[in-house]
Amino acid sequence: MKLEEIAKKMCAKGKGILAADESTGTIAKRFKSINVENTEKNRLLFRQTLFSSEAMKKYIGGVILFDETIKQKTTLGPSIPELISNNNAIPGIKVDKGAKPLAGSPEETVTEGLDGLRERLKEYYDLGARFTKWRAVYKIGSSFPSIQSIKSNAHALARYASLVQEAKMVPIVEPEVLMDGSHDIDKCYQVTTDVLNEVYNELEIHKVDLKGTVLKPNMIIPGSNSAQKSSCEEIAKKTLDCLKKNVPGEVTGIAFLSGGQSEIESSKNLNEINKINNTNFLITFSYGRGLQASALKEFGKDQKNQDNVQKAFDHRAKMNGLSSRGEWSEILEKEVAA
Ligand code: 13P
Repeated sequence: MKLEEIAKKMCAKGKGILAADESTGTIAKRFKSINVENTEKNRLLFRQTLFSSEAMKKYIGGVILFDETIKQKTTLGPSIPELISNNNAIPGIKVDKGAKPLAGSPEETVTEGLDGLRERLKEYYDLGARFTKWRAVYKIGSSFPSIQSIKSNAHALARYASLVQEAKMVPIVEPEVLMDGSHDIDKCYQVTTDVLNEVYNELEIHKVDLKGTVLKPNMIIPGSNSAQKSSCEEIAKKTLDCLKKNVPGEVTGIAFLSGGQSEIESSKNLNEINKINNTNFLITFSYGRGLQASALKEFGKDQKNQDNVQKAFDHRAKMNGLSSRGEWSEILEKEVAA
């Protein structure tokens, strides 16, 4: 498949991406919150339960995996990437090695993982991956993000994206401006503008074909400790405005991260964005917590009750599928949940 076709399939109308690529450390935090032991067996059980769910076929275009998961065999027979492909979704893989303190500005981070990446990409392709993810992280503070952080992360994202396309996979380019802090919505807009400008500047220098990419940005929202509360209409309008001004029109798909918003907020805001979307971008979700929080809670109650975990996941996937068409509503949310 051509890169542009892969990107279109990942973000097809009514579908989005399941970010199930929590590193062993992050999944440890999630399992701790539900009192489940963080073992390889439990990680496999939770993930294969999601990936064999009904919602996969209807609402999920791609799944982002972690290194351990892409190499696992399910207890149902097929390997994890086979299970995902059998459900008509595309397997993807997180390839960065995490955000590390940035020398010179150690309160900020730069994402590492370029060394040996060409060789790892080949291995992941052979395991069935057709897209990848690399996440750069920017924090907002009185003197953050620094120019150093904006430039170094953009450079790494571009070198990553270029290598991924060489390996015939679609790079998800994820520059995440964190929600943490008491900044207002306009500060988020301005920082995201600066970050996106530098990212696309570097992608151009590194000859990345934008049609074969998916952008995974944050929405434009006030900081989580801000006194300001913005309506979903304001969030949608400012998010779309920021993307229209700063993302080149050739980009095929834009799949938001949920970034700490609640499940309902993530659906509601995406829905509002799609209601007013007058761009050519396919705009959808690439949620981790926004898709998994309720399912994880059910898994905490009873790990053997696959039906309840899948019911919770199916509902969230369906709601976000509707949001990707701008057809979600509070009434549907309650009707289906009842
Ligand atoms: P959240 O939706 O939980 O922010 O996770 C998405 C993700 O993949 C972050 O890199």
